[in-house]
This record gives sequence, structure tokens and C-alpha cells, in this order.
Amino acid sequence: MRRKLAAGNWKMNGTNAALAELDRLQEAAGGAAEILICPPATLIAPAGTRAGRIAIGGQDCHAAASGAHTGDISAPMLREAGATYVILGHSERRADHGETDAQVAAKTRAAWDAGLTAIICVGETLADREAGQTIDVIRTQLAGSLPDGGTGANTVIAYEPVWAIGTGKIPTTDQIAEVHGFLREALTARLDQQTADAIRLLYGGSVKASNAAEIFAVDDVDGALVGGASLTAGDFGPIVAALNG
Ligand code: 13P
Repeated sequence: MRRKLAAGNWKMNGTNAALAELDRLQEAAGGAAEILICPPATLIAPAGTRAGRIAIGGQDCHAAASGAHTGDISAPMLREAGATYVILGHSERRADHGETDAQVAAKTRAAWDAGLTAIICVGETLADREAGQTIDVIRTQLAGSLPDGGTGANTVIAYEPVWAIGTGKIPTTDQIAEVHGFLREALTARLDQQTADAIRLLYGGSVKASNAAEIFAVDDVDGALVGGASLTAGDFGPIVAALNG
């Protein structure tokens, strides 16, 4: 019932030459899983024109539609450039730019108003996990970052343990199952069952071709949010294939 989603977050990587990876990825785009690439903002418009069946997304947006916010980009601007998704509250934004849950919620509302699907990121640090605080941290982040009005069409939740991002370390499948099970439960408690069941839950953090199938077999994992291994079609294609089963 939930369409699988293979999402690539290129972060601050890629100039025009990287767009050739979209052409190479087209072959992988014929399966059941949806493919999304979130390139840097400078590449959204050109990516949109050659994306074919691949969806394009932004990596952040401002909560306002326009105004005196030097260096920022708004949700309607992303939408006009060809994006249909936007990643919000990534741990790198939370750490580098001090984004709070309340700001992520405001950005999410702006994304929805512009017709974008928000991919809201949550995840614990290693210190949180070692202190036994993982579920509490995620409960707080989800409650504060997801505004009222979430649906399967406008919201995706990505669980990205901070300590697994770019490190080659991944949680055990039991640890992923625990968090994803909790997320589904928390969404169900907040929304009606049908709406909660329609929201896709992605795992992110050191996903590679070699571990993707094992991660995708975990209950309530509806896909992945991939950083480093999404930069080339050679690395991302097999991850998409694993999701297609
Ligand atoms: P890596 O796949 O490089 O660990 O990054 C994960 C991530 O942060 C995706 O948003």
C-alpha cells in the first residue's frame, strides 16, 4: 500500500557534470519503487528538465514564502524550479544551523503550502543512544517537527541516527525495527490509523548496496535516505534494485 521510496541526498556535492548520473539512473527507474534525488539547489532546475521518471527534491527551505532572508530559498521557489519533495530537519541542518523542532515544523507547513512533500528527519546522537534516550529523543523530535495535518501524500519520516551518517556504522536490524515500530505507533496515536499507515518511513545512515537488502527487510522500513552512495548511478542503482526486491 505504501510505495517504496529510494531517496538520494546529494548534500553539498555536484555541479552540472553530476547531472549525467540522472541519465544513468533512468534504467533503474522502471521498477515499483519511486526514485528521488535531492541535489544542491543550483541543480534543481536543470535536474528537473532531465529527470524523466526520477523525482527531484530540495534539501531545505525557509518557513516564509519570500522576504529579507539572504541566502535562503523558499518552498514555492523549490516547487517552481521542479522539486516535488524537500528534506527538512536533517541532522546536518540541526547541527550546522541550529535548527529547532519548531523551525522544522514551520518549514514543513511552508512546504505543504507550496505543494511539496516534506521528508522530516529525526535521529539520536551516539550520546543519546548510550544514555538509553533514543526513543525519548525521537518522540520529542517527531512531536515537535511534524505539524498537524500530515498525510501519506505530504509527509515522509526519515530515521537517521546521527552516529550512522557517513561513518559506515549502521544500527542492528533490531534497533532499526524498534525505532520504526515506535514511529508508526506514534503516528497512529496522533493521526487516524489509515493516515498513519500511509506515511512512509525511511531509514538513513551508511546505506550501501551491500547492506540495503537486509535493511529493507525490516518491518516498517519503506525505503532509504541515502547520502554518499546516492552520488553515482553505479552505487545508487543497486540500492534501488534491492528496494524493488
Ligand atoms: P550517508 O548515506 O552518506 O551515511 O548519509 C546519510 C544521510 O545523511 C542522508 O540524508
